[in-house]
Amino acid sequence: MIQRLVIFGGTGDLTGRYLLPGLAALHEAGELDTSFELVCADLKDWDDKQFRAWVADQLDQHAANAAGVSRRAITAAARYRRADIQNPLEVAEAIAGGGPVAVYLALAPALFPMAIRTLHDAHLPDGSRIVLEKPFGVDLASAETLNQLLADLVPEQAVFRVDHFLAMTTVQNLLGSRLANRVLESLWNSAHIAKVEITWDETLTVEGRAGYYDNVGALEDMVQNHLLQLLCLVAMEPPISVSERDLRDRKLDVLRSIRPLTDDEIPHRTRRARYSAGTIGDRSVPSYVDEPGVDPQRCTETFAEIELALDNWRWSGTSFVLRTGKALGADRKEVAVHFRPVPHLPFGHDGSTAPNILRFTLDPESLTLALTVVGPTAGTLVPLTMTAPIQPPEFPAYGRLLLDVLTGNPALSIRGDEAEQAWRVVTPIISAWSRDLVPLDHYPAGSVVPPRARRR
Ligand code: BG6
Repeated sequence: MIQRLVIFGGTGDLTGRYLLPGLAALHEAGELDTSFELVCADLKDWDDKQFRAWVADQLDQHAANAAGVSRRAITAAARYRRADIQNPLEVAEAIAGGGPVAVYLALAPALFPMAIRTLHDAHLPDGSRIVLEKPFGVDLASAETLNQLLADLVPEQAVFRVDHFLAMTTVQNLLGSRLANRVLESLWNSAHIAKVEITWDETLTVEGRAGYYDNVGALEDMVQNHLLQLLCLVAMEPPISVSERDLRDRKLDVLRSIRPLTDDEIPHRTRRARYSAGTIGDRSVPSYVDEPGVDPQRCTETFAEIELALDNWRWSGTSFVLRTGKALGADRKEVAVHFRPVPHLPFGHDGSTAPNILRFTLDPESLTLALTVVGPTAGTLVPLTMTAPIQPPEFPAYGRLLLDVLTGNPALSIRGDEAEQAWRVVTPIISAWSRDLVPLDHYPAGSVVPPRARRR
């Protein structure tokens, strides 16, 4: 296990909101040795004392449930180094200390290529690991370049391209439920399944993140990474094991099998929209374009929907609809598997029988199977609902990810070839949208479903 974590961007939002609480949770679970060192590097002229005061404050705000002793231990372990990620000497100082380090690039993604070059010049010790957040590149070509830069620095096994969805217990349970139930696996193909809808509808708005979000939009923020990863877990062949190689090889197969959409298909199979002013519950929400930091000329979408087909034996003929939006009227975060109708109803059809739907609600977790129980004269739809007992996860998602980084298990991070394949799917859509082949619709904040979002 690596005992030293160096975070560049160590005074930023990601560090305060997610990484420090993740570390506190690991400490509480007894996963961190007393020799664990945390070095945070950034541009502020702070000393250790000022930095620790900030750490304590962040933990109070974002890890209020963590044990006081763990919060204090992380605060005491934290050291601060002023370092400019462009300066190899300063970076070398921040990572110095002997032995391998885990380097977390909690930086704007545009800085990744330069940061990787600087780490190279700063002689990153052998055995070190690198962690990067999404988006990994801006298109296929830039993802390939970034992968090449990383390959010149460390082996692929030492690169952790974070997708926090994969560390969510509920997401892992999706694969668990699929593979542990013969009754599901035998029906898990296009002969029985007409459509899979992967939905991440949020009531959250841009929440002060326009500086980042306005440059990416819903497609790159959510679909290119999280939703395609969910699709992989739904559609992958059963892996031999959940080791990093088996799991990621099978996910790659799914991504490679996705048929890229053509310019002719994109207007029918994709939608983009942006929220205007509205009300969510009793909260008035300004229009997206009036949020500080938004450039209306960019035409950034806050809602994206795409319909994909997979060219492989199991799924040819099933449609996969991925959709996500911000400032919607209700949170809906689920995978809904729509089975085909039965081929024949011997007692006639009175319209009350509906095809089965299996819903994996990812947040909050539950599993719902709509089964039709047929009475002597009429069909009665009986939803069978099973809600998994809510057990707090062992660690928050970022705790799990950090533990995997420190222990060197990249199974739940994205491999370089997966990132490239995901861009192969999304890049033609970005290109078509930038050429206005699909109009940018609008929906008032608080809408249940944006107008015309349901085409089928
Ligand atoms: C993040 C996106 O990766 O995932 C956000 O940048 C989104 O825009 C979030 O809201 C959703 O995940 P969670 O765990 O916050 O529900």
